[in-house]
Amino acid sequence: MSVASILEGKEICICAGAGGVGKTTTSAAIAVGMARRGLKVAVLTIDPARRLANSLGLPELGNEERRIELDSPGELWAMMLDAKSTFDEIVEKHAPDAATRDAVLSNRIYKELSTAVAGSQEYMAMEKLHELHAEGRYDLLVLDTPPSRNALDFLDAPDRLARFIDSRALHFFLAPSRTGLKIFSRGTGLLFSILKRVTGVDLLQDLSDFFASFGDMAQGFRERAQAVKGLLADERTTFLLVTSPAHEAVEEAKFFRDKIEEAGMPFGGVIVNRMHVEEPDGPEDLTSLDPDLAEKVARNFDDFHALAQRDRHNVDELTADIGDRPLIIVPYLDEDIHDLEGIGAINDHLFAGSGATAVPAEGAG
Ligand SMILES: Nc1ncnc2c1ncn2[C@@H]1O[C@H](COP(=O)(O)OP(=O)(O)OP(=O)(O)O)[C@@H](O)[C@H]1O
Ligand SMILES: [Mg+2]
Repeated sequence: MSVASILEGKEICICAGAGGVGKTTTSAAIAVGMARRGLKVAVLTIDPARRLANSLGLPELGNEERRIELDSPGELWAMMLDAKSTFDEIVEKHAPDAATRDAVLSNRIYKELSTAVAGSQEYMAMEKLHELHAEGRYDLLVLDTPPSRNALDFLDAPDRLARFIDSRALHFFLAPSRTGLKIFSRGTGLLFSILKRVTGVDLLQDLSDFFASFGDMAQGFRERAQAVKGLLADERTTFLLVTSPAHEAVEEAKFFRDKIEEAGMPFGGVIVNRMHVEEPDGPEDLTSLDPDLAEKVARNFDDFHALAQRDRHNVDELTADIGDRPLIIVPYLDEDIHDLEGIGAINDHLFAGSGATAVPAEGAG
């Protein structure tokens, strides 16, 4: 099975999975591979390894797409997602007027919220995805996902934002009479006034300003969160689950697959990355080697054999679990993947057995 056939007719590919399994590498590789097949592709990466970013020309990137020269018929564009600037762009879009916009953007609470709120990076990634998809300039968007402690944070992000907006805590602050704020200030006013005296920072005023101006934008945010959620469940989207062949990772992948399907989002298949794959012939003839060295080589070989067997066992289990859904294996390569050559080596496996060209999905491009 090739990634190209999984992605046939798809406009969005989301590479999800636990931390460190190879999501960023896989996203970049898929984008390169599909561009080589003639598509106009954008990859939205998050925090790529420095050397990979360098070789893709990413370090100077802000929140904007940049074209990467490829010697191929398609086009490859890449951007590095930055949660804070995406958040700022949304505020600019939803703010009713310039004064509100500036009030929110310069607000201390907002600054904290937009960088530190749990899940805001996940949410912003999807927000950007939604925006690019709506603009329709690409045949395919490949989304790398953040190194969440819990891969599920990602699926949950739009709901979490909507819940926050609808939460009683927020409405308490947004109450027109501001009685909420008054009660609040009576209870903790002393603390705030001491803080203000000591630090010169009027936190209470900041809070109150923030919630007053944020209230005008809440509806816009809520609608966006719904639209993003709809896009994730759209049949033009597919989730590829990236995992390592280690036992815990495989268990987590199974669980995540269930969650994707429960949430009504389209599950495209699994990529098992960094698998220890044995050479079919075993070690070469060792008799000509120095006996000490021969013993070391043999021991190394035994260790590798054990790892390969363990991986095989775990992958067999995963295969049984996902049934007829595609599963693609990428071996543990000798070197770190940090340039187009390394990506090419990955793509020999991701795109094994597929033709050289793909046709853009209908209506895109
Ligand atoms: N098949 C492979 N063979 C060898 N090295 C690999 C392979 N796949 C990925 N790597 C290396 O593993 C490291 C982690 O990969 P990557 O950054 O893609 O993981 P990630 O899932 O995006 O991590 P994070 O959750 O931290 O974002 C990188 O140094 C990458 O070069
Ligand atoms: Mg990553």
